[in-house]
This record gives sequence, C-alpha cells and structure tokens, in this order.
Amino acid sequence: HHGGIVVVGSLNADNTVRVHSLPAPGETVLRHDGQGTWSPGGKGANQAVAAARQGARVAIVGAVGDDSAAHLVTNALTEAGVDPNGLVTLSDTRTGTALILVDDVGQNSIAVFSGANGKLTVDHIARTDAFASGAAVLCASLETPADVVCAATRRAKESGMLTIVNLSPCDEIDPELLRHTDVGVLNEVEAQQFVKEPLSVRSPSVWQDIGRSLRQRNLRQAIITLGGDGAVVFDEDVAEGRGVPHHLPAPPVVARDTTGCGDAFIGALAARLADGQTLRQAARHAVAVAAITATRPGTQSSPTFDEVVSFSMSDRDGSRHD
Ligand code: RIB
Ligand code: NA
Repeated sequence: HHGGIVVVGSLNADNTVRVHSLPAPGETVLRHDGQGTWSPGGKGANQAVAAARQGARVAIVGAVGDDSAAHLVTNALTEAGVDPNGLVTLSDTRTGTALILVDDVGQNSIAVFSGANGKLTVDHIARTDAFASGAAVLCASLETPADVVCAATRRAKESGMLTIVNLSPCDEIDPELLRHTDVGVLNEVEAQQFVKEPLSVRSPSVWQDIGRSLRQRNLRQAIITLGGDGAVVFDEDVAEGRGVPHHLPAPPVVARDTTGCGDAFIGALAARLADGQTLRQAARHAVAVAAITATRPGTQSSPTFDEVVSFSMSDRDGSRHD
C-alpha cells in the first residue's frame, strides 16, 4: 500500500425490516414472511469495512455506547480488519441506531438516532493517534457533529492527507469544511441543493455549469453519484479547464438492497486513491463496488477486491445480469 485510511464517522446498529412498499404517513404495512434484522451499520463503519475489503489499511475514529449494539458494530469492524483503537466508549449514552425499511425494488427509507455518534468531540480528534502512522486518506461524513468533521479534515490536511467528504445532508455546510475537502461526494439531490441552481444533474449539457458552481463553492474535485446510472467525476483536469466531467456508467444489476451503497462507494474510492490511482480510475472501481453491494441484502454487504475483479470480468463478456 501507499498509505492507510482514517475514517471519522458514525457507527450504528441497523434495524432493518423488508416491506413490499414503503409506508406512507399514517399507513401500516405488514409482512409475515422474512424477519426484521439487527446488523452493523453507520456511514463511518460502512465506509471503513468497504475500504478494508478492498485491501486498504483502515483505522476508524468514532463513538459508541456501553451496550450490546457497540459489540455488534465493533465486531464487524475487527472482523473486516479495521483498527478500532480510535473508538471511544461513552458510558452515559447509547450506541447509534438506524431504523431502515427496504422495499421490493431495493429502495430504502432511514431514520437515525445519533446516540453516541452525536457526542464525539473535537477533543477526540485532537487526541487520537489514528492520523499518525502514515495515513494517506481521510473519509468523513456528516453523521457526527459538524465541528468534529471540520477538525478532522483540518488535522488531515495538516498531515498532508487527501480528504474525501460525503456532503450529505448538504444544507448549511461550513465553508471551512469545504476548504479542507479535496473530494466532495454528493448524490443527485444533494448536488442540486449544493449548486443552488435548478440544474438537472442527469443532463450532460449542464455538467460544465455544475463544475463551475462546485468550484465557486471551493470544491475543485467532486463526484456526483447517480445510483443505477453510475457517477459523474469532476477531477483536477476539469477544474483546470483541461478536461470535461466524466460519466462512469454502472454495470447493470438487479438491486436487492441499496442501503449503504454510497458508503461502499466512498470506502472503495478511498482504498484505490490510497493505492495511488487517479480519481477517475478509483471512481470506476468504486462504481463496480457499489453495484455489487446493491445486489446483496444488508448494509455492510460490499465485496472483496477479488470479487470485484471477477465480477468485472464476467460483466465484460456480457454473461452477468445479476
Ligand atoms: O448509509 C447507510 C447508513 O446510514 C446505515 O447503515 C445507517 O446506519 C445510516 O447511518
Ligand atoms: Na446491500
């Protein structure tokens, strides 16, 4: 490896119920087959596991409570080979939980109780030695307090690291955070909110305009994820006017559970960037990782590096539709 990855982010116990269709307000949907499950999740933990499965050396910084949910999430991390020493256990609070509904076409709706994630502090960032040992890339998301994420990106930049931030939710993002963000990752809706213009992100004719708006807000490099339609990459060549935004289509798959696909994308992206790939190369790999993740039930369902390679080979000869 060229360098390791530090993930600063949330850890949740995910309580998932599969439904035929997501209930409307006031509606109850009932299902007799299958079962509700508790599984490890949280954007930070999902990113860390995904990066580790791509072969990266990963350390996570976050907070859990002193309860069984903490065991669920930390066991999954250590099983994937993630260094959990940057986790703090807060005895006066509960581990975060997420209530997740997944429908028959793999769409979800999620409500998160932050719990311990909301009590991670700037002090934890200052004290952790996760940044010390040759880490090259920071991954952060906004399920931990904004000042903590900002401090983490600042510390990462002071250490000469590359920072990737999932800018979700993206209303009221601290300009200082954006200054310390090398690569911002947004989905379609967030990209629209972020550029504050009524531009349809799916239309290639506006990608140049979107790139300009991103740069006006201090984001030189960004990736807009488009679910089953892949991603659009705005790299340094675009920022310098040497190239145009680049669309990476996703391989066709049947989605069973798209929960955590965005996190798998970011973890895989970080792993390939830490390995010295360009943003475009890394994003191409991450699109495949996210697609495979969508075919599998559960949140931390991202594939290993070898699984991505064999998937891509079968995809190339057209034999793979699932
Ligand atoms: O991105 C998916 C994740 O969001 C889930 O694992 C849930 O815990 C929430 O953090
Ligand atoms: Na999945």
